[in-house]
Amino acid sequence: MSKLFEKLTLRGVELKNRLWVSPMCQYSSVDGMPTDWHLVHLGSRAVGGAGLVVVEATAVSPEGRISPDDSGIWTDGHSEAFRRITSFIKSQGSVAGIQLAHAGRKASTYIPWKGNGKIDVADGGWQVVAPSPIKFAGNFPEPREMTIADIEKVTEDFVAAAVRAVDAGFEVIEIHAAHGYLFHEFLSPLSNKRTDKYGGSLENRMRLPIETVRQVRKAVPENLPIFVRISATDWVENAWDLEQSIELCKRLKDEGVDLIDVSSGGNVVDARIPVGPGYQVEFAREIRKRAGIATGAVGMITDSHQAEDILQKGDADAIFVAREFLRDPYFAIRAAQELGGGLRAPKQYGRAIEIAIASAEAAT
Ligand SMILES: Cc1cc2nc3c(=O)[nH]c(=O)nc-3n(C[C@H](O)[C@H](O)[C@H](O)COP(=O)(O)O)c2cc1C
Repeated sequence: MSKLFEKLTLRGVELKNRLWVSPMCQYSSVDGMPTDWHLVHLGSRAVGGAGLVVVEATAVSPEGRISPDDSGIWTDGHSEAFRRITSFIKSQGSVAGIQLAHAGRKASTYIPWKGNGKIDVADGGWQVVAPSPIKFAGNFPEPREMTIADIEKVTEDFVAAAVRAVDAGFEVIEIHAAHGYLFHEFLSPLSNKRTDKYGGSLENRMRLPIETVRQVRKAVPENLPIFVRISATDWVENAWDLEQSIELCKRLKDEGVDLIDVSSGGNVVDARIPVGPGYQVEFAREIRKRAGIATGAVGMITDSHQAEDILQKGDADAIFVAREFLRDPYFAIRAAQELGGGLRAPKQYGRAIEIAIASAEAAT
């Protein structure tokens, strides 16, 4: 029996397999509202057999959006709009998750097909905030240094967003602390030059993400798992790195986090990242081993055998896949055929896909 198609139970939630859709911005929202695009896009991946479908980075406040077209969950109207999406995902035997996010100094930027870099306030952008007034890159917005009141409001916004997400029917909450967005900006000494209790020592740099996780954990039901996505390294010297990530993950485990979704990079514009098949798996392995917490591996995992091998070696507990699920929404069904995973296609598609499974089984 393949490990990729083994169930995983986290708190009160059973995931039918360990092949999951990684959060992916669709830049297709209006005022943060999910649209028909989201229903079809996310729904298709649930139809395609993924055990968990995680909604894109969804802003906890309007100024936390990467772009004006990002999804958001800062009003009850947003959670209402997400409800039919979670309900459809669930109807396919999949679990609906959502990534809650604040983009910090990387907010107010153009979406990939409209331009790049900052959107000026005059063109519909907004004043962005960050731990310190340091730009991400030349053509990015100039951030305003956050006050203590701003920082405390971020925690409140995450808590309110998490409660709304539960209300919308999400069963996994992922907090985005990766890719150079707000929490990663607090963690990394490159973007956090504060001299108050939120900057300087590792303890101080971890304070905001940990405090936020603590408050979110208190606010959502006990039986609901919380994930945190981190960047395990900035990929440059004297910056955020694996050792600090391991410390952070130990602390997150103590706060009741159930799984770390282990990515990397995003906070240094010219970092040299050795991108290649499974290039971030080593971080998932080290965090799993040394922090003693479940991990999800992500990054250029595109093949069923590659995914299976990562789990068989004990490098991670689950696999997040992004682009391969865009190329093939039925990647999970295909992987099950290749590995003998026992995952069946929806009955509506049986005449096309069950035959393929039957013939694959006959051939073995
Ligand atoms: C279109 C697109 C949008 C993305 N949006 C997000 C996002 O909202 N949140 C996030 O943490 N990562 C995001 N990512 C990163 C992916 O989740 C994933 O970590 C990355 O693409 C590496 O996995 P892959 O090689 O399977 O694509 C995005 C990637 C793509 C391709």
